[in-house]
Amino acid sequence: MTATLRAGVMGWPVSHSLSPRLHGHWLARYRIDGSYEAIAVEPDGLAGALSRLADEGFRGVNLTVPHKEAAVALVDTVDETARRIGAINTVVVEDETLAGSNTDAFGFIENLRDYVSEAAMSEWAARPVTVLGAGGAARAVCTALLDNGANDIRLVNRTAARAAALAETLPGLANYATICAWADRTDALRDAALLVNTTVLGMTGQAPLDLDLEKLPGDATVNDIVYVPLETGLLAQARRRGNRTVDGLGMLLHQARPGFRAWFGVDPAVDEDLRQAVLAGL
Ligand code: ATR
Repeated sequence: MTATLRAGVMGWPVSHSLSPRLHGHWLARYRIDGSYEAIAVEPDGLAGALSRLADEGFRGVNLTVPHKEAAVALVDTVDETARRIGAINTVVVEDETLAGSNTDAFGFIENLRDYVSEAAMSEWAARPVTVLGAGGAARAVCTALLDNGANDIRLVNRTAARAAALAETLPGLANYATICAWADRTDALRDAALLVNTTVLGMTGQAPLDLDLEKLPGDATVNDIVYVPLETGLLAQARRRGNRTVDGLGMLLHQARPGFRAWFGVDPAVDEDLRQAVLAGL
């Protein structure tokens, strides 16, 4: 008899993570004898928890808040994207070693691919793209944009110094980024082909995002990576004025694919069934 394949997500807290529901849906759908567990790990327990993975029969884990950055120093190999982003969200046990990667940039772009034509995506190289926020999510989004041809990225953040730090520390970004003051955020929408919100504004329990889309071209795509609620105020405004809108749930679903494939051997589908299964957990 073969052993059940084990994987999971480490976070602190971890109980609200949607990953067990997401991977659980795929395990059932592909009839894989596997488990995906929520593992509560305190920050100072991360090194120990990672070091025990192989002995405990884990194929690997996802990492969520607050472990993503600390893990970079705790695994044996770090892939190029994770090194650029400075954070790991996926760990694969390979023989006795731990391989760390970051699939957030992949998830971001693969989700957009589900909604935006290749022709529209090629506009990102010809026109400005506007990114709101300068936290960890913005690092992943900017990495994906750079890798997909964007060469005029407007960084808009409440704390301008943080946007400047992002531009300086993300390899390659400084050449292609303009820092825009938060007070000038409506002007930062002019001519843009894509607007991405990576801030927490508009999330349930957070302040609304106060942004008038009047200056955004009608053919621009608007992507909010917030997914609670699924249709944020930003997306509702964009939809009403006829912009293409992309919600944040798909990024979460797509970022999970590489881990599932590495641990369980199947590249799983992101489809409406999965969306509904995960939405039921919100
Ligand atoms: P993550 O790593 O998930 O991206 P984060 O690092 O906490 O999260 O970043 C949150 C983002 O939301 C930041 O860009 C933050 O702006 P600051 O860098 O100025 O803090 C932004 N944000 C949070 N609350 C905000 C508010 N009230 N107004 C404007 N931006 C806000």
